[in-house]
Amino acid sequence: MAVLSLRTLFFVCCLLITNFISQASADNNTQNYHYFCDHINDRGNYTADSTYHTNLNTLLSTLTSNTLINYGFYNFTNGENTDKVYAIGLCRGDVKPDECRKCLEYSRANLTQLCPNRKEAIGWYEDEKCMLRYSDRSIFSLMEVGPAYFAWSSLNATTQVEQFNKVVKDLLDGLRSKAALGDSQSKYATGYATAPDNKTIYGLLQCTPDLSGQGCDNCLLQSIKEAFNCCSSRIGARIVRPSCNLRYETSSAFYGPPAYVTSPSPSPSPSTVTYNTSSPEKGNASGTSVDIHVIPLLMLLLCSFFISI
Ligand SMILES: *[C@@H]1O[C@H](CO)[C@@H](O)[C@H](O)[C@H]1NC(C)=O
Ligand SMILES: *[C@@H]1O[C@H](CO)[C@@H](O)[C@H](O)[C@H]1NC(C)=O
Ligand SMILES: *[C@@H]1O[C@H](CO)[C@@H](O)[C@H](O)[C@H]1NC(C)=O
Ligand SMILES: *[C@@H]1O[C@H](CO)[C@@H](O)[C@H](O)[C@H]1NC(C)=O
Ligand SMILES: *[C@@H]1O[C@H](CO)[C@@H](O)[C@H](O)[C@H]1NC(C)=O
Ligand SMILES: *[C@@H]1O[C@H](CO)[C@@H](O)[C@H](O)[C@H]1NC(C)=O
Ligand SMILES: *[C@@H]1O[C@H](CO)[C@@H](O)[C@H](O)[C@H]1NC(C)=O
Ligand SMILES: *[C@@H]1O[C@H](CO)[C@@H](O)[C@H](O)[C@H]1NC(C)=O
Repeated sequence: MAVLSLRTLFFVCCLLITNFISQASADNNTQNYHYFCDHINDRGNYTADSTYHTNLNTLLSTLTSNTLINYGFYNFTNGENTDKVYAIGLCRGDVKPDECRKCLEYSRANLTQLCPNRKEAIGWYEDEKCMLRYSDRSIFSLMEVGPAYFAWSSLNATTQVEQFNKVVKDLLDGLRSKAALGDSQSKYATGYATAPDNKTIYGLLQCTPDLSGQGCDNCLLQSIKEAFNCCSSRIGARIVRPSCNLRYETSSAFYGPPAYVTSPSPSPSPSTVTYNTSSPEKGNASGTSVDIHVIPLLMLLLCSFFISI
């Protein structure tokens, strides 16, 4: 009974806050674009036409026009001392180089317009097809879990829920290890497993490849934990952070074949997990039709706060 009322409270609380936030954050979530204009690190603003501004523009042009990189990860700097700008571009592992550049180019236009004069900003375009971020501090090889956003399907698993959660957990844990074993150009893993109702669950995990294996593992570990916190039993969910992405969906293969194939890993470690890491045969990379609700991290924190009082 106590549990029930607590759940009801949680539900009502989240509903109220959802309505509240969806209004309040209308300007940081445009239809296909999620972004944060530096409210966590508070790096401040640059002035228009300053050296920093010029450096940033040059850097982002260089980044989005680079045709030499074919593995979807860009880490560039430009400038000196306090005017030095750092930028990272990362594309989802199934996004081909030309599509990746196009995505980063759109992202650049959106981000610099939506976060005018901000020294630091981060944005994800179209289902995390690409992430673009920049700052005046070094953001390379740095594991950062925030700012983050979570999204989940409005549908729940209905049969053998515990078993469903276990299959999801095993799938994600296996993919986590696999992604962390990637090299300095790609830390990306996809795979699928069969849910109790014989539906297929597809998973995708990715880190920025400049992270150490341990950093990647750590980031994804936190995301998997979060997936069972925010989104337990949901048939699909996403946990999106600066350093790593997690996504799973049921019934729909939302990713295509890998755009970049890394050199074979040195020792194919024996796995006890029974999920299938081969490419799904139907391989339809088009978007999922599942209705996803997006709730920023802050709101969830608020939710748990309200529950604890
Ligand atoms: C998003 O918008 C809200 C409300 O306007 C604001 O309080 C918050 O700081 C914004 N977040 C970012 C990262 O810009
Ligand atoms: C930077 O500019 C934004 C938007 O104009 C403003 O809300 C914010 O307070 C500024 N930050 C600083 C540190 O001046
Ligand atoms: C954001 O990118 C989209 C590309 O789909 C473009 O249509 C839109 O104009 C861009 N917004 C800004 C502010 O540049
Ligand atoms: C799914 O589960 C959540 C949490 O238990 C609940 O709030 C939500 O209404 C459920 N959705 C459906 C469509 O049953
Ligand atoms: C940029 O990334 C590549 C590939 O991960 C790495 O080898 C290189 O050291 C990085 N450069 C910087 C400046 O961190
Ligand atoms: C799932 O498939 C297996 C083997 O094909 C079958 O035995 C089982 O009854 C199916 N379960 C459901 C819920 O359809
Ligand atoms: C993995 O997928 C292949 C081809 O889709 C299939 O033949 C095989 O039975 C699957 N293995 C498991 C453990 O599901
Ligand atoms: C892929 O998905 C699209 C849109 O959902 C659909 O029109 C198309 O038929 C699918 N293709 C395959 C091979 O399943």
